[in-house]
Amino acid sequence: TFRHLHHFVPATDPSRPPLLLLHGTGGDENDLLPLGRALAPGSALLAPRGNVLEGGAPRFFRRLREGVFDEDDVRRRAHDLADFVAEARDAYGLQKPVALGFSNGANIAAAVLLLRPEALAGAALLRPMSPLAAAPAADLSGTPVLMLSGAFDPIVPGDDVGRLAGTLRAAGAEVDHRTLPAGHGLSQADIAATTEWLARF
Ligand code: MLT
Repeated sequence: TFRHLHHFVPATDPSRPPLLLLHGTGGDENDLLPLGRALAPGSALLAPRGNVLEGGAPRFFRRLREGVFDEDDVRRRAHDLADFVAEARDAYGLQKPVALGFSNGANIAAAVLLLRPEALAGAALLRPMSPLAAAPAADLSGTPVLMLSGAFDPIVPGDDVGRLAGTLRAAGAEVDHRTLPAGHGLSQADIAATTEWLARF
């Protein structure tokens, strides 16, 4: 049995890398399937549900309040998610996935990049923030990371996301960080930028 309830959609074009779809707070394993299908036609989609509940809302790690994370839980859940990815790759015969995470899902993807850099082929982080105050020294040489922030995002502090970009770059990741004229929600510009970025794989 798997560590995460999840939805799996097999590839129709096995030359395309699988997408690991990571939902935001209150989402579930079905939430990002339409987005994944639109962004990556042909790719397998692996969509786990976060194992933490906050007042009934699924998340990928605990927080003390908005923007203040339980970092021990972040570390534990990031390892758990990386183990789930290994399990699912084995069971479904998958290449290394590219993560596509929104909000809380982007934050757990960033934590997996830093703690288990071997787990992902790359990551598109939509509205991310730093998951850990003191990041471990990871080797992400050559790993493509797209970060899309919203200029009017009331949840994510601008200096925090700059710090995350710097941490990932210092670890060797090829970071493309863009700030779009959007809030915390996704816009057409997010779809366009992510589609274009995914074409490199
Ligand atoms: C988080 O808790 O991961 C961030 O505040 C984003 C969110 O609201 O999920």
